[in-house]
Amino acid sequence: MTERADDNRVRIFDTTLRDGEQSPGISLNKGEKLEIAHQLAKLGVDVIEAGFPISSPGDFESVEAIAREVHGPVICGLARTGFQDIDAAWNAVKDSERPRIHTFISTSDIHIEHQLQTTREDVKGQARAAVAHAKQYTDDVEFSPMDATRSEIEYTAEVIQIALEEGATTINVPDTVGYTTPDEYRAMWEELYRLVPELAKVVTSVHCHDDLGLAVANSMSGVTAGCRQIECAMNGLGERAGNASLEEVVMLMRTREATLGWWTEVNTREIARTSRLVTRLTGYAVQPNKAIVGRNAFAHESGIHQDGVLKERTTYEIMDATSIGLEANSIVLGKHSGRHALRKALEELGYEVDGAGLNAAFKRFKEVADKKKTVTALDLEAIVSDEMRQAPQAYALETFEVEASNSRTPFARVTVRRPDGGIASGEFTGDGPIDAFFSALNAATGHDAKLREYHVSAVTAGRDALGEVTVLLELDGKTSTGTGVATDILEASGRAYLRALANALAGSPVAEAEHHTDLAARELTP
Ligand code: KIV
Ligand code: ZN
Repeated sequence: MTERADDNRVRIFDTTLRDGEQSPGISLNKGEKLEIAHQLAKLGVDVIEAGFPISSPGDFESVEAIAREVHGPVICGLARTGFQDIDAAWNAVKDSERPRIHTFISTSDIHIEHQLQTTREDVKGQARAAVAHAKQYTDDVEFSPMDATRSEIEYTAEVIQIALEEGATTINVPDTVGYTTPDEYRAMWEELYRLVPELAKVVTSVHCHDDLGLAVANSMSGVTAGCRQIECAMNGLGERAGNASLEEVVMLMRTREATLGWWTEVNTREIARTSRLVTRLTGYAVQPNKAIVGRNAFAHESGIHQDGVLKERTTYEIMDATSIGLEANSIVLGKHSGRHALRKALEELGYEVDGAGLNAAFKRFKEVADKKKTVTALDLEAIVSDEMRQAPQAYALETFEVEASNSRTPFARVTVRRPDGGIASGEFTGDGPIDAFFSALNAATGHDAKLREYHVSAVTAGRDALGEVTVLLELDGKTSTGTGVATDILEASGRAYLRALANALAGSPVAEAEHHTDLAARELTP
């Protein structure tokens, strides 16, 4: 490959933990956010937008923990222009080796009049004060004129000019509502470069939403115009239809590098694993035909395609599955494998497990290996992340019996271990076996959680595959998700349900995530 020009390096700014976490029903706790952040660092993203610290104490603590523990990428906290927001963002990220404050304010008249209920002049003043205030803390300050693609361009340019005068080092121009088109977005950038020549001296950034399915195309148009940072999220998570999908922009640049010339420092072999982790922890399933990380992205169904690929892979494949880490589905262990082999396999997967953690993982592995002929890397990853997610203070499923037939009302009886160590039992009938099972769990735990969504999928192919269940439930007006893995899908369902219940009881950040957007509508003056 020819020498890569530095000018063509595109920075990857990951916002899975901020914009992505704003998707309804996502309830990541601090440990889960840390796990994702560590994986993002392994993936090699340049910037992790770890959260919106003012939005809740939970979000603040998560950003703070990521700033302290995750090394490599810049760790960024989001803030509106209010000084309290900026102080919170700084306090959360200040222990990072590379802290960044990202401050934003809307420049569209729709937002200024109806949401902020202020004037263009006031917005200019707020932008100036915010960047100046952030600059007292750190040199690395990013500024975004929100809803820029529906703003008058001359006015946006004035606000950007102000942010630059105060020392902003990255200017991000978002398509907040996913409204623009590739040609329009590119033209907007070209005009901004003309109106604000100083833009050429800083990093310019794109942040595109997918409401019309154009987030990736629009992002690439921005890069064509000269932008060298893309804000994106794993699996395309984000507000409403989501953000530009990280795996798509990265693999587009990798696959077409010879023609386009742009490149990133992402280790693409970590893409598949990062996608699976985000799917598992957020409870947001990836559609089977999703580009790059969908189950079928490298599958060939038609005879003609299969025939071609068997003869020569490149006949119908533009990317090699191994380039995103998909060969990780190799068979690694069997039922006679011992503790040492398990530890080695886990190490290869990136998990450092010892002592009590290894004992717990080994016990789970044996349970699975007794029922499954072979345990693949994908199985191990699912088991270990399931085990790691078992909060010590939560309810645990001890025993269950579920009776179902087409002639009798389904019935379930369960026992659960309570957080105080005691055993509680419950029984219930239901419309179906899962309904009866979950009602019995409610009876045993004494909570009246309502099931809102239920998904089951197989970790690998085959009749003995591990089942992975995700539930979304509602308790006292709060929604939360939980995932469970087992060879028996009823057991996986019980685990998922109890975990979602534990998340809801722990005041999981769903309610907080939902108020991220409310916050944007509130009083903004410092
Ligand atoms: O979509 C948007 O405008 C945002 C900003 C906070 C950058 O997420
Ligand atoms: Zn956004």
